[in-house]
Amino acid sequence: MLKARDAVIAMKEYHPPLAGRQGLRLDFNENTSGCSPKGLARLRNINADDLARYPERAPVEAMVAAKLGLTPEQVLLTNGVDEAIHLLSETYLEPDDEAIVVVPTFGMYEVFVQQTGSRVIFVQANAGDFSFPIAAVLAAITPSTKFIAFASPNNPTGGVIKLDDLLAILVAAPQAAVLLDEAYFDFHGETFLPEIEQNANLFIARTFSKAYGLAAFRTGFLAADATTLKMVRKVASPYNVNGVSLACLESALDDKDYVADYVQQILGGRALLEKEFESLGIPFWPSCANFVLCRIGEAHKEFVTAMRERGVLVRDRDSDPGCSGCVRITIGTTEQMETLLSAFRDVCSTLQISGPLRAGASR
Ligand SMILES: Cc1ncc(COP(=O)(O)O)c(C=O)c1O
Repeated sequence: MLKARDAVIAMKEYHPPLAGRQGLRLDFNENTSGCSPKGLARLRNINADDLARYPERAPVEAMVAAKLGLTPEQVLLTNGVDEAIHLLSETYLEPDDEAIVVVPTFGMYEVFVQQTGSRVIFVQANAGDFSFPIAAVLAAITPSTKFIAFASPNNPTGGVIKLDDLLAILVAAPQAAVLLDEAYFDFHGETFLPEIEQNANLFIARTFSKAYGLAAFRTGFLAADATTLKMVRKVASPYNVNGVSLACLESALDDKDYVADYVQQILGGRALLEKEFESLGIPFWPSCANFVLCRIGEAHKEFVTAMRERGVLVRDRDSDPGCSGCVRITIGTTEQMETLLSAFRDVCSTLQISGPLRAGASR
């Protein structure tokens, strides 16, 4: 009888709540203004010949590398950051290895580690402010640790890691692939990309799903030391990024003004939402990304439902480790923030949600 590997049988299924996403979608940290007009124009020009060819990743990889000041050998374009995590898990993890994942965080690290049969060691962010738990991460490292994953800015907390903490991990675990996921880099503006030059075990992932508005295209990349990345490149399909995405990415990369304008709107909207939380006394975690996590409390479910009834989708994060009663709200464009804030005020007043700011979860 056909039987899947034990590791696969033991895996949890992951089904993002994608059904029925009608309304203002502030639930998946997407770009809610759509993709770059230049990328869309290129898409409209795709012809039959473009579709008949196998995609050539290298020229776009070289273009991305040049924009980052890296060599093409230091960059691997991937089918989103999701594939980057998958490739790292396949390249570095044996069934009895350990992988450290700092939580609460993006769910796919756990999923891809689990399918290799490795053990996931969850390290909880510091209580109260969700700051990076450096002492606990260092304490969790063993000779079996072969993969360590964290995001900065992190999803759903919006917090970041300090350079000293990253360097301490790289030194403490030279046998581990250390993934710093910078999916939300564009909203923070600070990167530790130059560190790949000195640290052969560091991988930095970025995505075009967020600030560039290309989530449907599934494109991102891994940057790392050229020799290190050679191993991961072996595992990737030569056609892992499809030709339509590659063609449009070339054009979208040129649309700097579009991304800059969108990011400015997000930073303004984020400040507005954080101010609103402050004025209502709702605890929140100051964010460096395009979303903010707040603690609604016991009424989190009713809150999400009431927002949906008013046409605004937000994400319940109550089941994330350490996040009881929490909801994550993606920032929209300047115009969309008016819709969000009006629905938010209405729901808070109807459900009588307000309260004194609690220590740790506020400025
Ligand atoms: C931290 C983090 N990394 C990666 C991703 C997914 O990136 P991609 O769409 O490139 O697979 C997300 C999406 O929500 C995320 O929050």
